[in-house]
Amino acid sequence: MADPVFLITGASSGIGAETARHAADAGYRLVLAARSTGRLEALAKQLGGDERAIAVTCDVTDFAQQEAMVAAALDAFGRLDVAFANAGFGAKRGFLEESPETWRDMVLTNVLGVAYTIRATIPALRQSAGHLLLTSSVAGRRALSGSLYSATKHAVTAMAESARQDLDESGVRVTSIEPGMVDTPFFDNPVSGALEPDDIARAVLFAVSQPPHVDVNEILIRPVSQPT
Ligand SMILES: NC(=O)c1ccc[n+]([C@@H]2O[C@H](COP(=O)([O-])OP(=O)(O)OC[C@H]3O[C@@H](n4cnc5c(N)ncnc54)[C@H](OP(=O)(O)O)[C@@H]3O)[C@@H](O)[C@H]2O)c1
Repeated sequence: MADPVFLITGASSGIGAETARHAADAGYRLVLAARSTGRLEALAKQLGGDERAIAVTCDVTDFAQQEAMVAAALDAFGRLDVAFANAGFGAKRGFLEESPETWRDMVLTNVLGVAYTIRATIPALRQSAGHLLLTSSVAGRRALSGSLYSATKHAVTAMAESARQDLDESGVRVTSIEPGMVDTPFFDNPVSGALEPDDIARAVLFAVSQPPHVDVNEILIRPVSQPT
């Protein structure tokens, strides 16, 4: 069998980019999706170029772009084995903070964008009896004060369980990845005492490397010192 194919949204930075590096080391061919074309192309080149990794410019809030992303994956590699719906961003806490437009973008990206990735990838994942992973958060398990972001991640946690039930008996596995604080450009400034993207990438690779009958449904992972 040709090497399996691993698609990642939000692959231009942070958790997505680091997971791409780990997946490449594990022998996967990569489909790297986000809006920052230059960063994706640089990463694809580092991971072996066209035969091993392709860059696909995709705004996850646009379903046609997500369909084109999956079509590009199938054109380049002929199959899709893992889809990691990871694109997302945060916002200040407080229901009087941020603009209504920022809220709109965040809900469209974190919630609708993930639903679109599920919808766009399911047919190919059914064919490969593949694996769907969604990046939720600790904030998707516990409500945080004044946090619409936390509400979007609760939606992602719910979508993972909904997709798991929907795909039961299809052979497709579904995993919700629920990180605590990770030091990435998600934050405006570096954060100390946080997890590293490498810690989350190892958790993702743990889930996808289980035997086919094992479905790791949720991985909640905090730095050793994080009260919430
Ligand atoms: N860092 C944390 O503490 C933490 C904790 C829990 C969960 N998470 C979640 O982890 C995921 C990855 O975040 P990160 O920490 O790795 O932050 P990051 O470094 O800022 O990465 C976010 C990624 O999402 C992409 N993205 C944002 N909007 C997009 C859109 N409309 N279309 C396509 N791609 C889009 C960005 O790429 P472009 O800008 O190039 O499009 C980037 O690749 C997010 O879902 C985040 O909510 C993070």
